[in-house]
Amino acid sequence: MNINTYAHKYLKPLLNQTMITCDLTCGNGLDTLFLASNSKKVYAFDLQEKAIENTKRRLKDFDNVILIKDDHAKLDLYIKEKLDLVMMNLGYLPNGDQKIITKSSSSIPAFLKAYDLLKEGGYISLALYLGHDGALKEYHAFKKVLKDFFVIERYQNKRSLLEPQLFIIKKVYRPQTHCRQKA
Ligand SMILES: C[S@@+](CC[C@H](N)C(=O)[O-])C[C@H]1O[C@@H](n2cnc3c(N)ncnc32)[C@H](O)[C@@H]1O
Repeated sequence: MNINTYAHKYLKPLLNQTMITCDLTCGNGLDTLFLASNSKKVYAFDLQEKAIENTKRRLKDFDNVILIKDDHAKLDLYIKEKLDLVMMNLGYLPNGDQKIITKSSSSIPAFLKAYDLLKEGGYISLALYLGHDGALKEYHAFKKVLKDFFVIERYQNKRSLLEPQLFIIKKVYRPQTHCRQKA
């Protein structure tokens, strides 16, 4: 099973029709369609006009999608409410311009801002690719960041070096640790 099919299968039981969700890379609209079908409202971002058009066409029968043509690192300018679940499917637009790829300089700020906007108990699904130019740099940058987060699921279709990887992150309550200073 590829990572996108696996992500939908894993996330579906976590969603319901009261939830606010976000797709940080709407691309051809497959994840946005999944979120629009299983939640109350979806914010969907992409930098490319072609991706916005593709998603608009795919979602023509839905009235619960807010499409935003902008860098996902600016999500906090558009979203003023808490989120239940966020999807980030990185890389390039399939059947599109392979030179327009996600880069850690914006995808990591987008991830951190999305995490801030998540409700406690909320989820981020992160699909990382390794095969295209620039992918490894983004992958290694995320691997460092993910050390500080609670990854509840990790999936790879086949265990091979360049096979895409899916991470599901859960926002958990972290009590502040109080250190008592010695006199
Ligand atoms: C792998 S595709 C997403 C696939 C999509 N989720 C789907 O279901 O079809 C990655 C997308 O990220 C978009 N992208 C690249 N950099 C971006 C950025 N800084 N902000 C928003 N979208 C970006 C690309 O234009 C591309 O459409």
